[in-house]
Amino acid sequence: MAVGVFDSGLGGLTVLDAVSQELPEVPFVYFADSSHAPYGVRDSEDIYDLTCSAVETLWDAGCDLVILACNTASAAALRRMQETWIPENKRVLGVFVPLIEAMTERDWGDNSPPREVAVKHVALFATPATVRSRAFQRELAFRAIGVDVEAQACGGLVDAIEEGDMILAEALVRSHVDALLRKMPAPEAAILGCTHYPLMKDIFQDALGADVKLYNQAELVSASLADYLKRHPDMYGAGAQSRFLTTGDPKKVSGHATRFLKREIGFENA
Ligand code: DGL
Repeated sequence: MAVGVFDSGLGGLTVLDAVSQELPEVPFVYFADSSHAPYGVRDSEDIYDLTCSAVETLWDAGCDLVILACNTASAAALRRMQETWIPENKRVLGVFVPLIEAMTERDWGDNSPPREVAVKHVALFATPATVRSRAFQRELAFRAIGVDVEAQACGGLVDAIEEGDMILAEALVRSHVDALLRKMPAPEAAILGCTHYPLMKDIFQDALGADVKLYNQAELVSASLADYLKRHPDMYGAGAQSRFLTTGDPKKVSGHATRFLKREIGFENA
């Protein structure tokens, strides 16, 4: 009954942690494409090819349902995968939908005209590919009016986190927040639109100020996955065991993951 969770690297562990708390009885197979991270500096074609190949690995590991715990893959590849590539008996879900639903206070399938929503000035921190895709702004514009989104591409941040260089990561967060605040001096809310960034959540909050609400994408995704599995129990795959797979060096990836999640994580070769 395993479910797959994919990210280019360690960021998706923030989602894995939340979904495994919500669904403790479900085994999850986590796949980190560490040797190709970061995805955020790649073009859409490249992100599409890498994401499809990662998803196939998770299907082969007994997961019929795969969560793309990666905003970059969700923004740059998911729609095309769903329209042209995913077979009938498999599902791939992204991390965008639950976030947009929370921000716009309505279900994804609600096709009524866009309405005013509570939050008007939103800061979006994401990878260069996610910012370039404008996927977040597009989905928001279908559903909400009068929301001003200012996006900041956080170049270098995923590399620093993957390398475990937290001094550089903190300096980059502060400088990207500064750059955002110069464009939008008083955001009411901020989206950490890359699953790596919650690993730096306290620094983002400190740099933005305590009044700025941070949307917790991991929590939103886990609630939505629990609801989905309740409605689609047939989407549990054949896998029976939780596993951590990587295309990188398992020893190095395990060390960084253990440090981030503060519990022993053992990756194996994908
Ligand atoms: N953690 C991913 C995201 O949510 C990908 C980061 C990257 O590989 O650049 O966007």
